[in-house]
Amino acid sequence: MASRFDWEARYRNARGVIPDPDPFLGEALEHVRLAAPAAADAVDIACGRGQNSLALAAYGLKTVAVDYSSEALQLCAELAAEKALAVETRCFDLESTEADWGDSRFDVVAVFRYLHRPLVPLLKRIARPGGIIIYKTFTRKQLQFGTGPRKPDYLLEEKELPELFADFRHLLYRETCDFEATAALVAQKP
Ligand SMILES: C[S@@+](CC[C@H](N)C(=O)[O-])C[C@H]1O[C@@H](n2cnc3c(N)ncnc32)[C@H](O)[C@@H]1O
Repeated sequence: MASRFDWEARYRNARGVIPDPDPFLGEALEHVRLAAPAAADAVDIACGRGQNSLALAAYGLKTVAVDYSSEALQLCAELAAEKALAVETRCFDLESTEADWGDSRFDVVAVFRYLHRPLVPLLKRIARPGGIIIYKTFTRKQLQFGTGPRKPDYLLEEKELPELFADFRHLLYRETCDFEATAALVAQKP
């Protein structure tokens, strides 16, 4: 997996380019609408350039976008300002003691294409009771393709994602393997 320095360089070179929001997010937000209609805020963990943060904000959630790449966050903040969307960017290393969440709690916790298993208890903690986790990232089957992470630490095992959130109520779970191999979960904190 790339280092913080690598990510900064990657985003600097792709300046101004932002992908579309993940299609799974639209589907997941339908579950938020039904299961947590009063949801008001969200956090997008390891948000990158923030395409999903912007979509969460466009849905109506006041969104905090977290990443350790200031390059990526700057682009996200510029786009949010342009579109008048409620996105606050926070730049810190999620895997270090820099990551001080204090009393922050969210109705929606979103994670796309990022895995650091020791962070799972924190993701559960920062979700409010009744809050929704939306998680989609690569599985081990991604190794058959030439792209994406290679290290097992960054790849989910089959059925691992629902197991990591076994104490949540599962609303949607899907593993797919077409042009990329991913697992995607929507689950609600009791
Ligand atoms: C594959 S990208 C995914 C970005 C975005 N979620 C998406 O789906 O397009 C992984 C992101 O994780 C961020 N990242 C990796 N390790 C991190 C860490 N320890 N703390 C904060 N961000 C991190 C990188 O800067 C990068 O933006």
